[in-house]
Amino acid sequence: MNLEKFPRYPLTFGPSPLQPLRRLSAHLGVEIWAKREDCNSGLAYGGNKVRKLEYLLPEALAQGCDTLVSIGGVQSNHTRQVAAVAAHVGLKAHLVQEHWVNWYDSVYDRVGNIQLSRLLGAEVELNPAGFSIGVRQSWQQALEMVRERGGKPYPIPAGASDHPLGGLGFVGFAQELAQQEQERGLFFDHVIVCSVTGSTQAGMIVGFAAQERPRRVIGIDASAKPQETFDQILKIARSTAEAVELGREITPEDVILETAYAAPEYGLPSQGTLEAIRLCARLEGMITDPVYEGKSMHGMIDLIEKGAIPRGAKVLYAHLGGAPALNGYAGFFVNG
Ligand SMILES: Cc1ncc(COP(=O)(O)O)c(C=O)c1O
Repeated sequence: MNLEKFPRYPLTFGPSPLQPLRRLSAHLGVEIWAKREDCNSGLAYGGNKVRKLEYLLPEALAQGCDTLVSIGGVQSNHTRQVAAVAAHVGLKAHLVQEHWVNWYDSVYDRVGNIQLSRLLGAEVELNPAGFSIGVRQSWQQALEMVRERGGKPYPIPAGASDHPLGGLGFVGFAQELAQQEQERGLFFDHVIVCSVTGSTQAGMIVGFAAQERPRRVIGIDASAKPQETFDQILKIARSTAEAVELGREITPEDVILETAYAAPEYGLPSQGTLEAIRLCARLEGMITDPVYEGKSMHGMIDLIEKGAIPRGAKVLYAHLGGAPALNGYAGFFVNG
């Protein structure tokens, strides 16, 4: 496998911390650690997109682009990370923020991620279109608008996923984890990852496939459109495997996507999501959010409790970020 041939612009602190979750492990009876992508960078709180953008930014700079153009929901973590990366390297950012979530808190479009994106100097455009991980007209119009103004846009799709370089960051994550395991004499046989636009899990699948010892990468769908997410994970994993010369095909059997934890819909928590957020906060002091990580935390807890992840397993919870969105969901937590 050859990841090193791709230029990488360092935006993270280095390897993200690996941390034992001792009280949660004792509570559930299975050893659980977290790899903290939620504090992987000093750029506006970091997160999984910063790791992906390390591989997109060199291309944007090499092409002489002056504006990163991307898209997400109103409380998108991804667009906030694009805004931070743009500010960090002196580029402009134009962000299309669509109405992906049926949540009507009066401050939803003013606090959290969108507040940070504005603070970071991005041009933020609100758009009424609903949730989709596909390529959007509004995004293509934004690209056109930047061109008409005489700028040179660099297109970054939702989640930096459906992009030839989108899977590379999490191939690197897999390599980094193997190194940390070796240093500590550990091996995680189960990896839990939240999936929506797909390139986080896709990159991991490819990165782990290159390693000797097999492990189960369990995606927890938070899109509530699991077929679209599954298809996108598979597509990105296949193209990434080819790009890094993995040397074998990725098949549908390589993609595990649990679909029971995304309810009621994208961007809204179930009672199970909220209970998982509270449990993790109170046992570990670790913050998860109602859109993404609360759902993967719920999935992990339930799979352990049901025995689908067996006693004796060593579980890695990939914490991908997302806490800034919590401010937009204050109503769920007025009583803790
Ligand atoms: C905090 C957080 N977790 C998980 C995900 C899902 O990652 P991906 O879109 O690469 O599937 C995202 C972004 O969509 C996110 O912001």
